[in-house]
Amino acid sequence: MKLSGKVAAITGAARGIGKACASRFLDDGVKVVISDVDAEGLAATAAELGRPDALRTVVGNVARRADVDQQVATAVKEFGRLDIMVNNAGVARNRDILEISEEEFDEIIGINLKGAFFGVQAAARQMIAQGGGGVIINMSSVNALLAIPALATYAMSKGGMKQLTSVAAVALAPHNIRVVAVGPGTILTDMVASSIYTSEDARKTVMSRTPAGRGGEPSEVASVVAFLASDDASYITGQTIYPDGGRLILNYTVPVKDK
Ligand SMILES: NC(=O)c1ccc[n+]([C@@H]2O[C@H](COP(=O)([O-])OP(=O)(O)OC[C@H]3O[C@@H](n4cnc5c(N)ncnc54)[C@H](O)[C@@H]3O)[C@@H](O)[C@H]2O)c1
Repeated sequence: MKLSGKVAAITGAARGIGKACASRFLDDGVKVVISDVDAEGLAATAAELGRPDALRTVVGNVARRADVDQQVATAVKEFGRLDIMVNNAGVARNRDILEISEEEFDEIIGINLKGAFFGVQAAARQMIAQGGGGVIINMSSVNALLAIPALATYAMSKGGMKQLTSVAAVALAPHNIRVVAVGPGTILTDMVASSIYTSEDARKTVMSRTPAGRGGEPSEVASVVAFLASDDASYITGQTIYPDGGRLILNYTVPVKDK
């Protein structure tokens, strides 16, 4: 129970990885405020997780600064402080780079990168106000490094998040705040079902690039988040840790289309 007594906020936690992080934190004795743009899903998840003593919900869109501020304010109002911020909300669209509209670019960057930036700011301001210390964890992806052309906006957002993590880590180190990122490979969530496993061929291709031979479970990302949030990771800041079943060490390249 290395995290017992801490207070955490997690965005995009109505399902998938965010929900798994909430469940893990509750098991570890953390008080948690979860947010999501999906009000119904959030309420269902809160009911499933139970723990009215330690769990609060905030309906909000991370692309709106006021909504992210509201989540941090709720943590302070309900549990007195904020120790851990997990900027997890994210969306992916599978699209040819020539087909991406301005609206879609703004949507993906707005949620995945701007939303995380708002989370870093809101959390850091509160952590500094309460005397410093704390951990901010950004949910990145192997796509921060890999250039998969069908996921251009997603890759741009996660590449930006890599620098957000590095820059914020340096800027906030004097306040004893660590800023890290987790970059999963293929984790079996709704996001993968809708944007990655679009056909059996697509699934086979992904598995051919996954030495572990299987997709990861959301709980296998949550356990990395729990480690990074704990003092066991007290000398880790600015880095992205990749729970990816061995994908990045393959150093594979995406086939170039015939001219
Ligand atoms: N599943 C994977 O394989 C994988 C791999 C690498 C990185 N990630 C990252 O992990 C994070 C979670 O992904 P997931 O697989 O659990 O996805 P998911 O689609 O299952 O869940 C994402 C959650 O975020 C919420 N959300 C979407 N837009 C939002 C917004 N504007 N404001 C607040 N909430 C919003 C959704 O309602 C949903 O509950 C994302 O940042 C994603 O990029 C996932």
